[in-house]
Amino acid sequence: MQNIEHLLKIDKDSVWHPYSAMTSDLPVYHVDSADGVRIKLSDGRELIDGMSSWWSVIHGYNQPEINHALENQMKSMAHVMFGGLTHTPAIELTEKLLSITPEQLDAVFYSDSGSVSVDVAMKMAIQYWHAKGEAQRQRFISLRHGYHGDTFGAMSVCDPETGMHNLFSEAMPKQLFIEQPQCRFGEECSEDDIAPLKKALVEHGEHIAALIMEPIVQGAGGMWFYSADYLKQVRELCNQHNVLLIFDEIATGFARTGKMFACEHANVAPDIMCVGKALTGGYLSLAATLTTKEIHETIDNAEPGVFMHGPTFMANPLACAAALTSIRLLLQSDWQENINRIEQGLAQGLLPCRKLSQVNDVRVLGAIGVVELVEPVDMKDIVPQFVDAGVWIRPFGKLIYIMPPYIINDDDLSFLTNTIVKIISNM
Ligand SMILES: Cc1ncc(COP(=O)(O)O)c(C=O)c1O
Repeated sequence: MQNIEHLLKIDKDSVWHPYSAMTSDLPVYHVDSADGVRIKLSDGRELIDGMSSWWSVIHGYNQPEINHALENQMKSMAHVMFGGLTHTPAIELTEKLLSITPEQLDAVFYSDSGSVSVDVAMKMAIQYWHAKGEAQRQRFISLRHGYHGDTFGAMSVCDPETGMHNLFSEAMPKQLFIEQPQCRFGEECSEDDIAPLKKALVEHGEHIAALIMEPIVQGAGGMWFYSADYLKQVRELCNQHNVLLIFDEIATGFARTGKMFACEHANVAPDIMCVGKALTGGYLSLAATLTTKEIHETIDNAEPGVFMHGPTFMANPLACAAALTSIRLLLQSDWQENINRIEQGLAQGLLPCRKLSQVNDVRVLGAIGVVELVEPVDMKDIVPQFVDAGVWIRPFGKLIYIMPPYIINDDDLSFLTNTIVKIISNM
């Protein structure tokens, strides 16, 4: 314990955590190990994980098959550059990804994180239009309350006010933002919902490279679930105005919403798609940008004749081996029924929240459960309450939300939802 205290002191003095201040007095917990759905703290406490480490650890921690795949891969190579060289994990992963994503997607570009895969998608769109002789198409349309990451390209398409990046607005390219659809998941889309996009395309269509959006679920920008009908109309409008459509499936991909990819709820396909987070089962940092034959051939056949991007750790073999095993595990499981089970558990377990005056809305879709409060939470107060109760839940703003690993059993799921109900009731 002495040693842990010393480590925590170094952490407090010198380690920066995501979206936090070095001087913050928010607690940071030292994790000793994690197994299945349990995170074990160094002080001996065990927490049931409600976060899947930000949507990624879908099969739970310390997963034997993924461990085994990594150990095996390590014996042949941990890494090798991807320029001029290739390897089986990347090739097999590509084949697998193309077999589960929408049919028109035909090529895969690997990168290290979701944010970078979004930047890659944006560069692909711009380079495509350049190759087509329409270099004036440099701007992007994005939805209010969208979140696409923290690099400069990705930041520029995040909500300009709630997207945590307005401090950098002068340094970012100026994109075009349209209102978030108000039509909820399961509802029809009204003319009021789609009108802002129609207007933007009529007024600016010729300068737009692509529309980028999170299909069905807007995640970090507000955990909002919107109508599949809206997505259908978006696809039609993009076709009419010759604008590319980029789906950011980084949070929603790999079954989280009850479909393998959220765009399947609307039965529409993008021109470019980003995946990350759960791609490796949460083991390693890997993301991918997928696109169509038309786009990659157009880019290849025009000046400068290559796509202008190439990360050092592109298609890291360990990450590809983990991803391949994670996707196999998912496909071998009865994932649809399992996500249904979690959806029902979340809906039932969070139901009592609807009656609480502290609560504005409760939303459940697939393995995502959201309680929207009337007032923002005080993180300093609520996170320790969750930890003391034995769960790992990290709310933001007015949102208390969970997206547990898919292997969670009914008892642990009830424990998570009961804890949420109890803590909100005592607010
Ligand atoms: C929809 C979406 N896009 C992009 C990102 C950025 O991914 P990363 O944090 O891996 O850079 C996130 C992260 O939360 C996300 O939810």
